[in-house]
Amino acid sequence: MSSTAPIKVSGLNHAFGKGDLRKQILFDITTEIPEGEIVIVTGPSGSGKTTLLTLVGALRSAQEGSIEVLGEQLRGAKPRTLEKVRRQIGYIFQQHNLLGALTSLQNVELGLRVTGRFSRSELQHRATAMLEAVGLGDRMHYKPGQLSGGQRQRVAIARALVGEPAMLLADEPTASLDKQSGRDVVERIKSLAKEKGTTILLVTHDNRILDIADRIVHLEDGRLSTFTDAVIENNQRMMQTLADNRNKQPLDELVAALDEPGFKDLLQQITSDSQRFQEATTLANDVAFKSMLRQGLFAFNRKLGQLLNADRASLFIVEQDSLVLRVAEDIEKMGEVRIPLGSGIAGAVAHSGESIRIDDAYADPRFNQDVDQQTGYRTRSILSLAIKDRSGKVFAVAQLLNRRDGQPFDQGDEERFADFIQSIGVILETLEGLSVHQATPRHQAP
Ligand SMILES: Nc1ncnc2c1ncn2[C@@H]1O[C@H](COP(=O)(O)OP(=O)(O)OP(=O)(O)O)[C@@H](O)[C@H]1O
Ligand SMILES: [Mg+2]
Repeated sequence: MSSTAPIKVSGLNHAFGKGDLRKQILFDITTEIPEGEIVIVTGPSGSGKTTLLTLVGALRSAQEGSIEVLGEQLRGAKPRTLEKVRRQIGYIFQQHNLLGALTSLQNVELGLRVTGRFSRSELQHRATAMLEAVGLGDRMHYKPGQLSGGQRQRVAIARALVGEPAMLLADEPTASLDKQSGRDVVERIKSLAKEKGTTILLVTHDNRILDIADRIVHLEDGRLSTFTDAVIENNQRMMQTLADNRNKQPLDELVAALDEPGFKDLLQQITSDSQRFQEATTLANDVAFKSMLRQGLFAFNRKLGQLLNADRASLFIVEQDSLVLRVAEDIEKMGEVRIPLGSGIAGAVAHSGESIRIDDAYADPRFNQDVDQQTGYRTRSILSLAIKDRSGKVFAVAQLLNRRDGQPFDQGDEERFADFIQSIGVILETLEGLSVHQATPRHQAP
C-alpha cells in the first residue's frame, strides 16, 4: 500500500506490568490504514481495543514494533513529535473527558483552540455550528453535570470533530446513545471522513453501525484478524468443540468422569466458545455482514479483473426476464443497467448458459452498443461466463472486458475465470439469499 498511509503499524507488541505481573495484551499487530478510510475494530471486552487505540493516538508509548502515524514514527519519539501528532487527531473516548467546570460550548471551543488555527470569533462560530449539528443547540451553556450521558457523549463528539482533524480515534462513540442518535452520530462521522478525507479508527460493540466501515478488523486475545476470518474461525471452533465431545463419549459420561479442574476447564471452554459463537453469528446475521459481503464482492471483482489482466470486470444478476448490472467499477455513476434476457452478449450467455468469447465486439451483431454509449467506454474484447446455482440454473453472468495487452481473451483466461467465478458465485448467491439489494441504492436509468 502507499507509503503515505496515515496509520502504519507493524509487529506491534504491548504488555502491562513488570516481572511476574507482566501481561502481554497485544501480539504482533500489523496493519495499514489508507487516508480517508473508516476502519472499525471489534472484539470481546479486554481484547486490547482501547490499548491499541491509545497507542495509535500517541497517548501511550509503544514498547515493541513500529507504529507510524501521520508520517511520524511514534516508538521512541520525542514529546514534541508526540504532541505534534496529537494536535492532528480528534479523540472520542469511552469516558467523555469533558471538563466539568466548562459549558458545552467552552468544551467544544477547547477542541478548536488546541489547533491554534482560528480567531476567537471564528472559534465560537464553529463550536456553535458543531453543537447545533449534533442536536445540542439548546444545551450550549449547560455544564456536563447538567447533561444526560448521551448528551455528554454528543458534546465529546462535537469537540473531537470541530477542528476537522486529519484523523479521528473513537472508542465506543455510540455507547450511551439510543438507536437514532447513534445512527446520526456515525453518519456525521462518515460524512466527515468522506468530505475531508479524515482517517477514522473506531472501536465498537454496536453491530448496528458496522456498515459505515470500509473495513472491519477483529481483535481477539490481542491478535488482529479480518472480520470474516473471525466469523469463520469461531463457527469452526464451536462445531469442533461439539463434534469432539460428541465423538468421544456421551456428554454425561464424559462429565461424570471428570475431576473438578477438568470439569471447570470443559465448562469454561464450552461457555467461552459459545459466547464467541454467539457474538460471531449475531454479527453474521447483521445487515453489516451483508454490507461487508457486498463490499467483498466489489473487492473480489476488481481483484479478478486485475488477475486476469482485464480492464473491467462486472457481474450481472438475473431478475425475472432481464439482467441487472450489480457489481462494476463506477456502478454508482452508471444508473441502472438492465438488459433483456437474450439480448446483448451477457443476455445471450444468461439465456444459453454457454460462455462467450469475442475478439472484436463491434464486429459481432449480438453486441449491444447502448451501454458503451451510455458510459463512454469502448469495448473491444469480451469474456462472458454464466454463473449457475446449485440446481444448475443460470442466476448471474460475470464478464471481463478488454484484455489489457490488447489481445483477445483466450482459452486459458476462460478456464481461470471459470475457476474463480465458482466462489464469487457462492458469495453472490449468499447475498441474494439475504436479499441485500434492498440496502443497495438503485439508480434510475438516465
Ligand atoms: N493501565 C493498565 N495496566 C494494566 N493492565 C491494563 C491497563 N490497561 C488495560 N489493561 C488490561 O489490558 C487488557 C486490555 O484492555 P483494553 O482496555 O485495551 O480492552 P478493550 O478491548 O478496550 O476492552 P473493552 O471492550 O472492555 O473496553 C485488559 O485485560 C486490561 O485489564
Ligand atoms: Mg475499551
